[in-house]
Amino acid sequence: MPQPWWVSAVFYQIYVRSFADSNDDGIGDLPGITSRLDYVRDLGVDAIWLTPFYPSPQKDHGYDVADYFDVDPAYGTLEDFDRLLERAHELRLKVLVDIVPNHTSDQHEWFKAAVATRESPLRERYHFADPKPGGAPPNNWTSSFGGPAWSPEPNGPQWYLHLFAPEQPDLNWWHPAVAAEFERILKFWLDRGADGFRIDVAAALFKRKDLADRPLIADRVTGAARFDSAFGIIDQPQLHEVYRRWRQIANAYTPDRVLVGEIFDPRRHSRYIVPDQLHMAFALIHLPWDAALWKRSIEVSRSALRGPGTEPTWTLANHDVVRPVTRLGGGSTGRARALAALLLLLGLPGQVFLYQGEELGLEEVDLPDTERQDPVFFHSEGRQKGRDGCRVPLPWSRGQANAGFSAAAPWLPIPEPWGRLAVDVQAASEESTLGHFRRALAGRRRLAGRLPEAMVWRAAPGGTLAYSRGRLTVACNFLDRPVRMPAQGRLLFGSSPLARVDGGFLRLPPNSAAWQLA
Ligand code: GLC
Ligand code: CA
Repeated sequence: MPQPWWVSAVFYQIYVRSFADSNDDGIGDLPGITSRLDYVRDLGVDAIWLTPFYPSPQKDHGYDVADYFDVDPAYGTLEDFDRLLERAHELRLKVLVDIVPNHTSDQHEWFKAAVATRESPLRERYHFADPKPGGAPPNNWTSSFGGPAWSPEPNGPQWYLHLFAPEQPDLNWWHPAVAAEFERILKFWLDRGADGFRIDVAAALFKRKDLADRPLIADRVTGAARFDSAFGIIDQPQLHEVYRRWRQIANAYTPDRVLVGEIFDPRRHSRYIVPDQLHMAFALIHLPWDAALWKRSIEVSRSALRGPGTEPTWTLANHDVVRPVTRLGGGSTGRARALAALLLLLGLPGQVFLYQGEELGLEEVDLPDTERQDPVFFHSEGRQKGRDGCRVPLPWSRGQANAGFSAAAPWLPIPEPWGRLAVDVQAASEESTLGHFRRALAGRRRLAGRLPEAMVWRAAPGGTLAYSRGRLTVACNFLDRPVRMPAQGRLLFGSSPLARVDGGFLRLPPNSAAWQLA
């Protein structure tokens, strides 16, 4: 049996608002994406994940959904979605849609009806509760965006629950109408041809029925007392019934529709990544640049999954975290390390998720506060800078206004020096980050299906890692000085032009990685 397409697939996350703007209003859109799909195909990826493009007041840039069955006019129309999908499929790219089941927008018809009168039966589809005596919130749960997870309803006596912004009221998954509605939503997009879903906040849908206060616990790392943020919210057992249903729905189309859960803690993956629930969940490596830490993280993620053929879904970046180039040291050092890290992950068994702009080596942008738009920034009263810095639109072409993203000012400004990193500049050079990405992805494609799933660590000098999968050996030097180790074949490619195999040794420059084939 050939393995299912996704088992060794590389996915490319498109942050719709920032990818490509077709009508010069400064905001990326679906026709813009369609016009750039050749670029995505040429990268050598197998699938794309589109962040939410539904009608939305954009209080959390689309993760506040007002209507799950349509496209926001700023992003296009349903016909634009169909055209995007058709073109993607012509290019043999699969398309995942982002589904947001934990909460709606406060402008969703259900919530508007729920707060219109106290008699509305739709109130039961959200979590409304009375304040504590004295007027405090109903319990001590907090929002991921800062402050209490409760706000008073407009013009009413009760409070409602929101794990994120107040404009994102949490749905009550105990209510059968909620589950039924999401089945309808899945089918709507599957009927249109979507190849699967990335499931937002996938482990938090059900809340403890008694909405009890969260207890104080001792922190696992520091031992200090803190509130248990998972309490009553994360991993409630009823979730598994939902995902079993969703898997049945997906399978009823074609066996190649996939479900990817936004669940990051690998120790919890094995509950969800089973043959009758989700296909994938993210193994995000967000660590200092240290060989031992990376090895441990890879091992923890791999050993967490037990089923035959289940391997982690490796990722370094998404629209919620500081860009890897910056995390790993910034500038040319950060860029070298991020590229080496990519080579390290691309050789592992499992899937890889890339985030737009990684292939250009983009850095986190330190935007002036006056330009920031992320609710995290506003709800933390500026204490947290938020996630705008990794969401700045892509630079497409050096000579043009706004690096070719849009004739109008983009919704977040593109730094002037990004012209040098523009796609048209990098496409012209083999030694650019883009050139390296394309080469690495092409190498992975050539070997796909020919490598055993099993990998073995090889003995390697301190500060380096090396593993083999069949004939392939991947080595990565985390040090700021060059190293050499016994060669394991000929050099396929390295993240640095100075990587070499000679005299029986692999020579790796600082912060670089290489693939060898025996
Ligand atoms: C997920 C999304 C993030 C969003 C949050 C609330 O974590 O990735 O961008 O703010 O859910 O929907
Ligand atoms: Ca636009």
